[in-house]
Amino acid sequence: MSSVTSGDGRRPLVRISSVSWGAVDDRFLRALRREPVDRTPVWFMRQAGRYLPEYRELRGDRDILEAIRAPELAVELTLQPLRRMPLDAAIVFADIMVPLAAIGVPVRIEPGIGPVVDDPIRDASGVARLRALEPEVDEPFALETIRLLRKELRVPLIGFAGAPFTLASYLVQGGPSRDHARTKALMHDEPGTWSSLMDALSAVSRSHLLAQVEAGVQAVQLFDSWVGALSPSDYARSVQPWVERVLVDLPVPSIHFGVGTGELLTLMRDAGGDAIGIDWRVLLDRAWERIGADRAIQGNLDPAICTGSWEVVERGALEVLERAARRDGHVFNLGHGVLPQTPVENLQRLVDLVHERTAR
Ligand code: CP3
Repeated sequence: MSSVTSGDGRRPLVRISSVSWGAVDDRFLRALRREPVDRTPVWFMRQAGRYLPEYRELRGDRDILEAIRAPELAVELTLQPLRRMPLDAAIVFADIMVPLAAIGVPVRIEPGIGPVVDDPIRDASGVARLRALEPEVDEPFALETIRLLRKELRVPLIGFAGAPFTLASYLVQGGPSRDHARTKALMHDEPGTWSSLMDALSAVSRSHLLAQVEAGVQAVQLFDSWVGALSPSDYARSVQPWVERVLVDLPVPSIHFGVGTGELLTLMRDAGGDAIGIDWRVLLDRAWERIGADRAIQGNLDPAICTGSWEVVERGALEVLERAARRDGHVFNLGHGVLPQTPVENLQRLVDLVHERTAR
């Protein structure tokens, strides 16, 4: 497989057989709608990634954004984890920075670091450089990947976008940040500039999601990965109205995910999402109580646990399942992305465990 290069149209990368699990499996979509399921569905954020040797082999030294721009390669990377284990959903191989790169933001993704923006946005003139996203023109490869995937998959395909705050943080900080200090400074000191920035980014997220739906994704996840850095009052005032614009009246079920959001859960719920994605810092049953029974919930095993012995993974997973208590509307996942050092076998056994222990 390492001999296959991106954009090589002569050798199709897609092999159908290994991603079919018999009948079409829609327990993931049923769970998002809080309908009864035969087993609790399971998928993993970052299920395509460096923990898979075949991923490392196929990616090689190729830049991740370049890999994403090659639909046949992105299809293959999306399918790899599904060949390894009977996951109940696939997630398009892409990145939250893709639509920003597509409108001309100078972003790179540094291995081991994350997105880096060379010319960060610090004022109104920076915001003015952002333009509207025209998905069919600016990112046709992303939509082509989805169309190709839908022909191969027997499980639902998830599209996704970064939420306005998380995107803003990369654009303003210029890279990953612990304290998000510059982003918060812009939010507090220049509210007019901040709301223009959020206007632009929520429009990009929304167009990106709608285009993916049109291309064939059956559910979407909005990643507000870094929103847990905000106080509830700042979230309510400076972020929530724009998240609402992204999520309102989407044509497919949506998952609204954030990290470290224990105190923001009701505000996030009010902003939208058929399901709320939670991390491991909050107990699943307590989080669900806060969110309310009229929403589905996704989570929430600590990804770090999955790097250790199976006995510990099993214990952690069983606690999550116990707290979910087979209520309709639970999608099993990790609380954040799979870590690169995770043994593949742990995830394979985890999928089987969830399916076996939740058979209704
Ligand atoms: O399998 C999947 O989940 C689909 C692929 C996916 C990627 N990025 C591919 C990727 C998804 C859903 C994302 C979303 C994403 N990207 C988020 C939101 C999810 C989250 O983790 O909170 C964020 C914050 C980003 C930005 C980003 N891109 C980071 C922080 C990194 C990690 C940098 C590193 O090397 O650790 C990336 C790079 C990236 N995006 C990788 C993958 C598989 C790893 C890079 C590699 O394989 O070399």
